[in-house]
Amino acid sequence: MVIIQRVVLNSRPGKNGVPVAENFRMEEVTCPDIITEGQVKVRTLYLSVDPYMRSRMNEDTGRDYFIPWQLSEVVDGGGIGVVDYSKYANLSTGDIVGFFNWPWQTKAILDGKLLQKLDPQLVDGHLSHFLGAAGITGLTSLLGIKDKGHVIPGANQTMVVSGAAGACGSLAGQIGRLEGCSRVVGICGTDEKCSIFVSEMGFDAAINYKKENVSEQLHKLCPTGVDVYFDNVGGDISDAVVSQMNSNSHIILCGQISQYNKDVPFPPPLPPAVEEIRKARNITRERFLVLNYMDKQAASILQLCHWIKEGKLKVGTESIHFSYRWGKSIVILNK
Ligand SMILES: NC(=O)c1ccc[n+]([C@@H]2O[C@H](COP(=O)([O-])OP(=O)(O)OC[C@H]3O[C@@H](n4cnc5c(N)ncnc54)[C@H](OP(=O)(O)O)[C@@H]3O)[C@@H](O)[C@H]2O)c1
Ligand SMILES: *[C@@H]1O[C@H](CO)[C@@H](O)[C@H](O)[C@H]1NC(C)=O
Ligand SMILES: *[C@@H]1O[C@H](CO)[C@@H](O)[C@H](O)[C@H]1NC(C)=O
Ligand SMILES: *[C@@H]1O[C@H](CO)[C@@H](O)[C@H](O)[C@H]1NC(C)=O
Ligand SMILES: *[C@@H]1O[C@H](CO)[C@@H](O)[C@H](O)[C@H]1NC(C)=O
Repeated sequence: MVIIQRVVLNSRPGKNGVPVAENFRMEEVTCPDIITEGQVKVRTLYLSVDPYMRSRMNEDTGRDYFIPWQLSEVVDGGGIGVVDYSKYANLSTGDIVGFFNWPWQTKAILDGKLLQKLDPQLVDGHLSHFLGAAGITGLTSLLGIKDKGHVIPGANQTMVVSGAAGACGSLAGQIGRLEGCSRVVGICGTDEKCSIFVSEMGFDAAINYKKENVSEQLHKLCPTGVDVYFDNVGGDISDAVVSQMNSNSHIILCGQISQYNKDVPFPPPLPPAVEEIRKARNITRERFLVLNYMDKQAASILQLCHWIKEGKLKVGTESIHFSYRWGKSIVILNK
């Protein structure tokens, strides 16, 4: 038996509450030495911290595709680790594997057939990319744009991205450009992040929603209106963007992070006046869930890795141990 550390859910913030560190608890437990046929023993390397996890802190997630975390039980999410010992035919010691329901613990015994074997060469050894630009985050940005964005190369389209300094947003702006948008404007909450995505990630302009009037800035920065809106946040920011969208334009309904601490359905309806505008201008706002596109996963990951290698897709510096800066939030264990 070895002693391992794990993170369990200690309490729930409540459907209308802001999560606090005390909602989680670290504890030590023992992990058996013996594994049975089909199992592998893994050492955790990286864990992804994601907005959807807020709904898993509730007793009822309000979504049929996520189950709630249970009190005093280990929490889980996207993770990557290395195989220490295997009794599953298709995996051997040293293999790098990923799983969407990786337990937040230093070591674990998992069912081999559930794990995805990852090729480190695809990401030039930057394994954490498999949780970011070369993982669910990159897939969300790419497939959201491809399936819901209606980007037409040469059509001189303007794209606006909210949550633009986040993991999905910073990629979405760059991919929007690669797919053919001619102007990309991002919205985020600090001047530092605004300047990074303009100077390093090829966005044309940025709006700091905490300091500037979003409607006025959009009017200035998108003189021909908005054709594609990659929406990560919802709320007032999105109301301002939708009001400046063109006829027959498209919202990519990626997420609504500004609403996640509120007890509202997903996706939350637009306020009546904004919904009127949306209908009158025939603006699409369809549900998008990356998990419904897993048949496109392999080819899309190859595309994303190719762009990263070519330097066409810049990947945000990872934040570790919750010191959030920009790009993907990842916890690193065992390093
Ligand atoms: N549809 C899907 O399949 C799918 C898959 C993955 C993710 N998502 C969604 O995509 C969105 C972004 O996820 P991510 O992984 O990129 O998250 P992330 O890296 O944590 O980024 C989230 C960003 O949102 C901004 N933000 C936080 N609270 C906000 C508020 N109240 N108002 C405005 N902005 C706020 C933050 O930056 P600032 O404070 O600087 O604004 C942050 O950069 C989330 O809504 C998530 O649920 C959807
Ligand atoms: C191992 O992988 C092969 C090819 O991907 C597959 O056909 C086979 O079922 C796998 N074996 C097990 C035990 O899952
Ligand atoms: C493209 O749009 C910009 C405004 O975003 C406008 O200034 C420019 O004239 C347009 N170009 C063409 C070729 O339509
Ligand atoms: C932003 O500017 C618009 C147009 O000038 C104005 O109607 C609105 O009240 C302003 N919003 C805020 C929050 O100041
Ligand atoms: C409304 O938008 C949809 C989807 O883009 C399009 O198929 C349809 O032709 C549009 N309707 C009108 C009246 O333009």
